[in-house]
Amino acid sequence: MTAPVCVTAPAKINLHLEVLGLRADGFHELAMVMQSIDLKDELRCENTSDGSLSLSCDAAELSCGQDNLIVRAAQLLRERSGFSELGARMHLSKRIPIGAGLAGGSSDGAAALVALNELWGLGVGVDQLERLAAELGSDMPFCVAGGTQLCFGRGERLEPLPPVEAKLGLLLVKDPGVSVSTPWAYSECRRQRGNVYLHDEAAFEARRQNLRAAQWLHPLGGKSPPLRNDLQTVVAPLTPSVKNALRCLETLPGCLQAAMSGSGPSCFALFSDRDGADRARDVVQDQLEELGLRSWSCSLIPHGVKLMG
Ligand code: C5P
Repeated sequence: MTAPVCVTAPAKINLHLEVLGLRADGFHELAMVMQSIDLKDELRCENTSDGSLSLSCDAAELSCGQDNLIVRAAQLLRERSGFSELGARMHLSKRIPIGAGLAGGSSDGAAALVALNELWGLGVGVDQLERLAAELGSDMPFCVAGGTQLCFGRGERLEPLPPVEAKLGLLLVKDPGVSVSTPWAYSECRRQRGNVYLHDEAAFEARRQNLRAAQWLHPLGGKSPPLRNDLQTVVAPLTPSVKNALRCLETLPGCLQAAMSGSGPSCFALFSDRDGADRARDVVQDQLEELGLRSWSCSLIPHGVKLMG
């Protein structure tokens, strides 16, 4: 029996989420910049001798059944490996808020691919793990290697960027009682936009080229492009907790920029260092409590799923 494998699964924020077009498959054509942060879940996997796959979790509100991306990732990896007798007992320690726009579920699924590849000794490369991840969810491929990456297409066309200014700090907030459904956010986007999209590949590519050329998060050099999230314009007016969070974060001393992450409802503010984020959290704690918002002070990290120990 091999030793258990433990991995960390970090959350992400969107520095940029631009809806370019509507695709024939019903998904949106996106141009995103995603960034891993040090708010992490942990997944522990050990072999079973009877070929069973099972998942337990310390968060009662999370389903551990067939709809969980960890279970689906484990089944997909086993199926593609051709070794149907492989099994694993998996346990998730959940720290990333659920339904928050932080890719917590996607990162957990990516963590299962990385951990089981190691546990089962399959030797599948990162590129192939990312392709498997893309079959399960749009944000999942990014979560495998993480760091700072451009994500195009549905989110699965990855182009790594150099790591951003590592010193930056982040204050993240979310109302624990509110979650936003991603399909709802995109369908609301479609309803509001009507036919106002870019319509051809040349126009998409021009936007991608803009993002490749930009200097992401180097605020000390004064060249950082503004944060942008097209779903924020859709979700914020309909979600009071997002409106309140953004209003509160934008006025904090030392806040460089603030935005919603993914399809929300979590929002974040950037600070020139982690101390700045910690100080702002202390200053605003009472106000956040009054608004019913939980908060986390975080750092940006240059990697995705990582083996522990
Ligand atoms: O792939 P994922 O499970 O993350 O997508 C959830 C839903 O979000 C999709 O079913 C679709 O409604 C919407 N979506 C989209 N365009 C994308 C990604 C997601 O319309 N690029």
